[in-house]
Amino acid sequence: MRKKIVAGNWKMNTTVPEGIELAKAVVEASSQVPSDVKLIIATPFTHLYPIAEVVKGSVVALSAENCADKEKGAYTGEVSAAMLESVGCQYTILGHSERRQYYGETDEKLVEKTRLALAHGLDVILCVGENLEEREAGKHFDVCAEQIKNVLYHFSAEELAHIVVAYEPVWAIGTGKTATAEQAQEIHAFIRQTIAEKFGKQAAEQTSILYGGSCKPSNAKELFAQKDIDGGLIGGAALKAEDFIGIAMSF
Ligand code: 13P
Repeated sequence: MRKKIVAGNWKMNTTVPEGIELAKAVVEASSQVPSDVKLIIATPFTHLYPIAEVVKGSVVALSAENCADKEKGAYTGEVSAAMLESVGCQYTILGHSERRQYYGETDEKLVEKTRLALAHGLDVILCVGENLEEREAGKHFDVCAEQIKNVLYHFSAEELAHIVVAYEPVWAIGTGKTATAEQAQEIHAFIRQTIAEKFGKQAAEQTSILYGGSCKPSNAKELFAQKDIDGGLIGGAALKAEDFIGIAMSF
């Protein structure tokens, strides 16, 4: 049985005190969530150290939103996988479309970032997904397959066990537009098939594939009921503990 996961991606939101309050509220409400649902919060770098203390001993795991593609050294402004490990992170998101779009994140860099994150004991939430133009041109399958092949195919089946895939159609992120459950299921099944082509059916069946893009308490149930949707990567709705927990209770 693969893991059910609900991960909150806070993006560049909340000050440190606000983030601590939000994390406390999530920890407090987490007792309502069934124990087979893994809860993760991904916070800005500045928040990780104090929030590691907040989530300590709880069921909530801590994630970064990115990490450097270099081990260490003269890379001003970057944060390494070793640093994330040292503050108590268990996960990092990599390849979010906002990083691909605004910060020139390439698949080549993502291979390096993933390699370093895994080497430092972090599990990776690897994001893939097409933009509106690609969806309208019917290229969404090709785009997702290419992103999977360009990054995931560089790793072994053992490493794959530490990677979660998040399908996030760019056109559904922060727009209030959600992929229909059928659209999401269709592409999740396709992503799983693409993983199976390299790693085999069994490894693909063990890989959690999350949906991201305007996921909220009101639509999570229908999305999570789909055979190949193993949870969500939540943006806006993760900034309210009640909504985030509401989503996690939607399995
Ligand atoms: P929204 O839930 O705000 O659409 O964001 C999704 C996302 O990008 C999560 O990583």
